[in-house]
Amino acid sequence: MFSLPTLAVIMLLALKFHTVQADRCPEFCICDNIQLTVACNKGLTKIPRGFSPDTRMLDLQGNHFHYIPANSFPDTAEVVSLHLQRCKIQEVEDGAFIGMKSLVYLYLSENDLASLSPEAFKGLPHLTYLHLEKNRFTQFPKGAFKLLPGLLALHMENNAITKLEAGLLSGAEKLRGLYLTSNAITAVAPRAFDPAPDLDTLHLGSNKLKEVPSEALSKASSLAELNLSHNPIRWIGAGVFQPVAATLKHLYLNHMGLEKVSKDSLARLGSGLRSLFLEGNQLEELPDLRPLTGLEVINLAENPLICYCPLLPLRKWIEQVNLKVRATCGHPPELRGQRVKDVHVFKSCPGEKPTKPAKTESALINILCYFAGR
Ligand SMILES: *[C@@H]1O[C@H](CO)[C@@H](O)[C@H](O)[C@H]1NC(C)=O
Repeated sequence: MFSLPTLAVIMLLALKFHTVQADRCPEFCICDNIQLTVACNKGLTKIPRGFSPDTRMLDLQGNHFHYIPANSFPDTAEVVSLHLQRCKIQEVEDGAFIGMKSLVYLYLSENDLASLSPEAFKGLPHLTYLHLEKNRFTQFPKGAFKLLPGLLALHMENNAITKLEAGLLSGAEKLRGLYLTSNAITAVAPRAFDPAPDLDTLHLGSNKLKEVPSEALSKASSLAELNLSHNPIRWIGAGVFQPVAATLKHLYLNHMGLEKVSKDSLARLGSGLRSLFLEGNQLEELPDLRPLTGLEVINLAENPLICYCPLLPLRKWIEQVNLKVRATCGHPPELRGQRVKDVHVFKSCPGEKPTKPAKTESALINILCYFAGR
């Protein structure tokens, strides 16, 4: 047994040791012991050590680490958020982050990563948000997320990934958001998202897809938001959204050079769809939008809609819904740029009550309608 004075000395020492620990701050770093944050952004070439063990946020952006060796972050079990953006990282060694038991946010954006080993993220049971955008991936780092059972959002925007292969999310089965905007994806394997039962947000905008990856979507049974904007998709077939019809709420089909949307493709989305973006396409006509009774936002701007009688259902729908639709005429030339809801051309279409247009206008409209209705 220790004598009382010895015990007191031990306690004092422990206390002193603790305060030293809490106050310690590595060279070239700025430590905030109240916010529990550490920032080291001085172009360091080695990952600093000796952070206070109660650090919550570690900001190491803008250094020149080039690679992250195994076990780079000892005594950081309380760190929730780790920032490693713009560190010229080309490689993450197996077990680089081991011991970061509390890590939820990991930012590896704007580095030079082209691949990731399946063991790279070992020992991160709580990692939820992983940022890998603006790196050099040409392939999806399949298997790298196997050890991340809690991953909810994966950011891979602005890489150079060319295709999505089968089973790329295996291991990350809880994933809710997959962000792949601005890659070079030309193909999505039918089983790419198998399994992804909870995937609700899928961003595939600004890629090179020529069609809606309908078969792959059939595995995403919870999909609520789909962004396909800025892909060279010319045509939307009748059943393409069928697999996600029950869950889809937000659909981005803008700026695709879209020429035709088949009659039933949108109608099948029914009352669940909340927003629909079709602006900046080449659509001359539109299918019946009446089944989309739950719409809160729609954008039809910048399409060369033909303002003749076949567009009458759209015109009637616009009059009836309380939405800003932004549809303008592209044809005939004299109506170009005018809003569909403002032009008079529909007044003498069959099925519309004529409200005494001038005689010559009415005759012209009849001729136009005749040709358009053929
Ligand atoms: C959809 O994707 C485009 C890129 O093609 C992007 O600019 C836009 O912000 C995305 N929309 C949403 C709501 O994320």
